[in-house]
Amino acid sequence: MFMHMTFTVAVAGASGYAGGEILRVLLGHPEAKIGALTAHSNAGTLLGAHQPHLRSLADRVLAPTSVDELTGHDVVVLALPHGASGEVAAALAERGDQAIVLDLGADHRLTDAVAWQDYYGSAHAGTWPYGLPELLHAGEQTAAQQRAELASARRIAVPGCNVTAVTLGLQPGVAAGLIEPTDVVAVLANGYSGAGKSLKAHLLASEALGSAQPYAVGGSHRHIPEIRQNLTVAGAPDVTISFTPTLVPMSRGILATATARLVPGTDPAAVRQAWEAAYADEPFVHLLPEGEWPSTAATLGANTALVQVAVDERAGRVVTVTAIDNLVKGTAGGAVQSLNIALGLPETTGLALNGVAP
Ligand SMILES: NC(=O)c1ccc[n+]([C@@H]2O[C@H](COP(=O)([O-])OP(=O)(O)OC[C@H]3O[C@@H](n4cnc5c(N)ncnc54)[C@H](OP(=O)(O)O)[C@@H]3O)[C@@H](O)[C@H]2O)c1
Repeated sequence: MFMHMTFTVAVAGASGYAGGEILRVLLGHPEAKIGALTAHSNAGTLLGAHQPHLRSLADRVLAPTSVDELTGHDVVVLALPHGASGEVAAALAERGDQAIVLDLGADHRLTDAVAWQDYYGSAHAGTWPYGLPELLHAGEQTAAQQRAELASARRIAVPGCNVTAVTLGLQPGVAAGLIEPTDVVAVLANGYSGAGKSLKAHLLASEALGSAQPYAVGGSHRHIPEIRQNLTVAGAPDVTISFTPTLVPMSRGILATATARLVPGTDPAAVRQAWEAAYADEPFVHLLPEGEWPSTAATLGANTALVQVAVDERAGRVVTVTAIDNLVKGTAGGAVQSLNIALGLPETTGLALNGVAP
């Protein structure tokens, strides 16, 4: 039977996009009580100056990000640039703080220290339980093992937003052995908020509006080893992926088109069955009716991932398209979903199934 379980939560990086979004989600969570809010260059200013949409917290002063400020809560959210969260997490552990810690950054996602070093160029901070409840493990038709791992987690590494979209698109085919994971191509349309709030010339309206621009082309994007890791968990012996994100003029949203070669001789009907089986009981990952394609607009503000799959028989490929809101299912909503599991709350508590439109 569900018991009330009010928890206090501190958010480090509250002035940023991810920090602001997890505050928005937590303000709608019946059990969350907002504690310390911290920032870096904006410490000492009001939250309302950075998150004017969060009216109920507008008068809260941002403290500097320090263990002293963050300690003593039930939950600590680290919405910090990679590198910074590893340091703060280590300091909290050294202090013996008992909080459940959610890292929205990349520091604790990868299990392979060599891959970390290769893509991030710094020392590996370690590996935490991975906060994608829907992640299929090899041999699973529906996701149970990842949820079991999260049920006892005190540290949660929240996935990268692009990684969530590509993983959810492809994993049913990997787990069912229907696609060749050594031949995966993913091209994504990405809203600007995925790049964070700090000023960058190519994100100025004069540069970006009316234009689409690829970035991290040619295999350098830091989400590549994380996608490979997830598809390996789903049962792929080896993963080769070509991954190209493209900035498009929208604030939020990711539309990920991920394709892979169909294992020769596979009955195309088996493809739809695998995706249906994987997601039939998922509260937030929805396989759309055949022929209906996901759009980012249909996910805005919601913790949903909308997925479609088709077989291109002429090309011999499975084509998947997944839409998410990068800040909700791609970050803050996914984090709260995993937190609910860790706290023993119903997984959907405080999370929106319905978005905002138009
Ligand atoms: N944006 C997304 O869609 C998204 C999706 C998934 C994951 N994430 C991850 O979430 C984390 C935050 O991303 P974001 O998009 O929210 O970035 P952001 O908008 O640039 O916000 C960064 C936050 O971190 C603080 N900060 C900056 N440098 C710091 C330092 N050296 N030490 C401590 N705090 C520092 C900033 O404080 P000041 O404002 O005071 O400088 C701000 O609160 C990143 O690791 C990112 O990869 C983001």
